[in-house]
Amino acid sequence: MTGIIKGTGACVPRNTLDNRELEKLVETSDKWIQERTGIQRRHIAAKDTAASMAAKAAKEALAQAKLKPEQMDMILVSTMSSEEVMPSMACRVQDEIGAFRAVCLDLNAACSGFIMAYATACAYIEAGLFQNILVIGSECLSNVTDWSDRGTCILFGDGAGAVVVTAAHGRGTIPVLGSDGTKGEALTLKNRKNQTPFSGPLTKEDLSPCYIRMDGQTVFKFAARKVPEAIEEVLLKNKLRKGDIKYYVLHQANKRIVEAVAKRIGEPAYKFPMNIQEYGNTSSASIPILLWEMQKQNMLHPGDNLVLAGFGGGLTWGAVIITWR
Ligand code: UT7
Repeated sequence: MTGIIKGTGACVPRNTLDNRELEKLVETSDKWIQERTGIQRRHIAAKDTAASMAAKAAKEALAQAKLKPEQMDMILVSTMSSEEVMPSMACRVQDEIGAFRAVCLDLNAACSGFIMAYATACAYIEAGLFQNILVIGSECLSNVTDWSDRGTCILFGDGAGAVVVTAAHGRGTIPVLGSDGTKGEALTLKNRKNQTPFSGPLTKEDLSPCYIRMDGQTVFKFAARKVPEAIEEVLLKNKLRKGDIKYYVLHQANKRIVEAVAKRIGEPAYKFPMNIQEYGNTSSASIPILLWEMQKQNMLHPGDNLVLAGFGGGLTWGAVIITWR
């Protein structure tokens, strides 16, 4: 038994913020942002939350898979920007969509989260524990973005993507997953401290709001090296050649990272679809949103092999192979 993707769904906020509008917030320019990142605009939540977007994406993926919420055995949500720590976002989605049989839990591997969640879902299915799993990546990054920091605020956007993973006959593929906690400080989102009877007086820093902080160049260099390595390794482990791969669906963090990966593994640019120009970096939602768009554009056909690859905070990385059915 293995897991196959039966349906995809997505939800992005209506409200968009283009580069010209960002010029009014920080010292930047549309030209700089487009040249350095490929981003033209991003969608920013007004009323939506990460949980509400996750539920909407899940409903669409279920409708496409022609499965009912009560048929789901598990809901796995990848997020690092949930509005609440408890209950989990997966439980919020369960309640919203009525998936009353599902085991629900969240997983945080930053921008690699969707890959880790997908590999986890496949492992449960291959172990024979579950048949139908909703895997969701949902982020409301505007909530954890410092809108006065031009090094980060130009990058991020909000959105959610979901897939239904279902048990099917056949052998599973081997994922490549990794983490390097020694480089954790390159990309952080700290939590605020609370006063306790034991903490002593809190400093001004303790009380300040918490935002994403990033050493952009370190993360860039890490991604441009690690993602090609992970792709080569996942191909080798699964005895596939580059000619067997239709598309490489990469985490949308920076157009230049995607281009650098393509160059390093010697594959043509057309095999690397991108939508970063429209959504910016939506962290763990970027890969399922891109898959959803590719499906809508009729780019995916039965038998197509895809490599999905992500990277990000932790630092973490991962690559999986899926065969479209
Ligand atoms: O989701 C996974 C995690 N995130 C990533 O994968 C992001 C990885 N990193 C990146 O995408 C890039 O490093 C950035 C897009 C964040 C930055 O691009 P860069 O080419 O690495 O720029 P830089 O940090 O080397 O900065 C170059 C210059 C600096 O000015 P000086 O020192 O040369 O005078 C910056 O101060 O550009 C300046 N700069 C800006 N200028 C205009 C930095 N941000 C901006 C800005 N607008 N928004």
